Amino acid sequence: PIVKELFGLSDLEDEVREAFGLKRVIVVPGDSDESDHVKAELGRAGGRVLRESLSSGDVVAVMGGSTMAQMAKQFSALSQMKENWFVPARGGLGESVDYQANTIASELAKRAGARYRMLHVPDHLSEEAYQTIMQEPNVREVVDMIRGARIVVHGIGDAVTMARRRKLVDGTIDELVKDGALAEAFGYYFDRHGRVVHRMATAGLRLDDIEAAEMVIGIAGGKSKGEAIASVMRFGHDDVLVTDEAAAREALRHI
Ligand code: F6P
Repeated sequence: PIVKELFGLSDLEDEVREAFGLKRVIVVPGDSDESDHVKAELGRAGGRVLRESLSSGDVVAVMGGSTMAQMAKQFSALSQMKENWFVPARGGLGESVDYQANTIASELAKRAGARYRMLHVPDHLSEEAYQTIMQEPNVREVVDMIRGARIVVHGIGDAVTMARRRKLVDGTIDELVKDGALAEAFGYYFDRHGRVVHRMATAGLRLDDIEAAEMVIGIAGGKSKGEAIASVMRFGHDDVLVTDEAAAREALRHI
C-alpha cells in the first residue's frame, strides 16, 4: 500500500473501478509491454487475488495465455487446497503448449496441492466430430464441471494480435476488423461496446456461464491492451481486474 501511494496508484485503481463498475481493481506499477518484470508482478498480483478469493470446494476455470502462465508459475498457497479443482475454461484455442489452459490448470493445481481435470478438444473440428467428442462421458463430465465453476480467471488480448496468434485465415481477420473487433477474451471477440462479434468453436465455458459465475477475474496489462481491456470491461461481467499502470491509463482513455 505504501508503494501504491507513492506512485499514486490507489487513485488510479479507484478511477478504473468506478469507470467500469468493478468490485475490485489492482494496478501494479509500470508497463508489461516494456518490461518482463512488470508482467511477472502482474502475474503475482493476479495469483494473490485468486488465493484470497478461494474457498474450500471451489472449482476454478482458467484461461490460457502468457499472463495466465506467469500467474500459474508464481502461484503459492498458504496450505494444501485438497478440496479445490482447477479446470481449463475452454478446449483447444490454438495456443502453444506452455500457454494452453490445460497446462495452466495443471500447474496451478500442482502448486496449490489441489486437483485438476483436463479437457482435450483439438482445434478446427468439424461440427460432426465436435458433437461426437461431446458425447464422450469423460468429456461431458469435465465440461459440466467447467460450466459450473464458481471462479473464472482469464486473460485479455487485442483482437487482431490474438487472431494472428491463433493463425486464423486472413479472410476471417478482415471480417473481425470490419465488425469492429477490438478485444478477445475466453475465445470470444468483442467490439468497443463490449458486444460479441465472433466466437471460437470449442467446448467449455460459454458466455452465460461467465454471467453466472460468482467471481470473474481478468488479468491483463501493457499499454497496447488498454483499449481491449476497456472493451471487455464494457461487456460487464468481470468482478475484478488486475492490470498495470500503462494499461489502466490507456483503458481510461477509452471509456
Ligand atoms: O488464448 C487464451 C487467452 O487467455 C486469450 O483469451 C487472451 O486474449 C490471451 O490468451 C491473452 O494472452 P497473453 O496474456 O499472452 O497476452
